[in-house]
Amino acid sequence: MADTINLRELLLFYADSGVDDALTDAPVDKFLPVEAPARPATSQASQEPAARMDRPSSKTAAPAPTPARPQTTVPDEGQSERARLLARETGSLDELRACLEQFDGCNLKFTAKSLVFGDGNPEADIMLVGEAPGRDEDIEGLPFVGRSGQLLDRMLTAIELDRTQAYITNVIPWRPPGNRTPTPIETEICRPFIERQIELVKPKVLVALGGPSSKILLGTSDGIMRLRGSWKEHETPAGVKIPTMPLLHPAYLLRNPAHKKLAWRDLLEIKARLHQLRGDLPSTA
Ligand code: URA
Repeated sequence: MADTINLRELLLFYADSGVDDALTDAPVDKFLPVEAPARPATSQASQEPAARMDRPSSKTAAPAPTPARPQTTVPDEGQSERARLLARETGSLDELRACLEQFDGCNLKFTAKSLVFGDGNPEADIMLVGEAPGRDEDIEGLPFVGRSGQLLDRMLTAIELDRTQAYITNVIPWRPPGNRTPTPIETEICRPFIERQIELVKPKVLVALGGPSSKILLGTSDGIMRLRGSWKEHETPAGVKIPTMPLLHPAYLLRNPAHKKLAWRDLLEIKARLHQLRGDLPSTA
């Protein structure tokens, strides 16, 4: 029993550390640049060469040939402007999703299994925006379906909401390899798409989940502890201002449960604002 618990803890530790693909005994460097043409990311796993488990038997053995790799990089230059022009042309969420499926200007696409687009009700008054999908989201192609997503669902339930009454998405629609932090240029390339997604959903209230999402949506370098606790504004490229509440990220709350009381306060603010918008309760904000 004790061994079972320890093994589970160990596997969770590995998963949290980004060690989540138990496919081979030898490491695979997913950052190696190659020059082959773009192709759908979903077929990558099947084309990924199996890592060699055997070692050369002597010092004179020929080195193993470097296997040809599928595309994993494109130049970043100009992609953010390209993304802006493409996103601007989309007139619906379906078009935006199709545009992202076609877009090959962000390197994260080549290591991810899925495009993780928004989920929930696009007619909702409230839109929640996380940073980037993790392993479970990448597998399912849906945002916030892993452990932090389960906590997010409970947080929504606490203010009498569920996914039929909220729209949930991420700034970055592809999982960064090993859950690493997206680079600033990756974020800039993805920014026009999340901005367009917000414009198309037209939420009355935005919730920025965690520091990175808050910084991007609010255009600030302040940390989440400074930002949370009061309403801010996200301004769309067209100049529309949307009340935005920065909220502690559920993954952070899983690691720091003592801070759930801060999140609870902010959730009550969000609840009050939504009721106020519907005209059925005065805001406490
Ligand atoms: N964390 C995020 O920011 N987004 C997800 O979709 C899952 C975890």
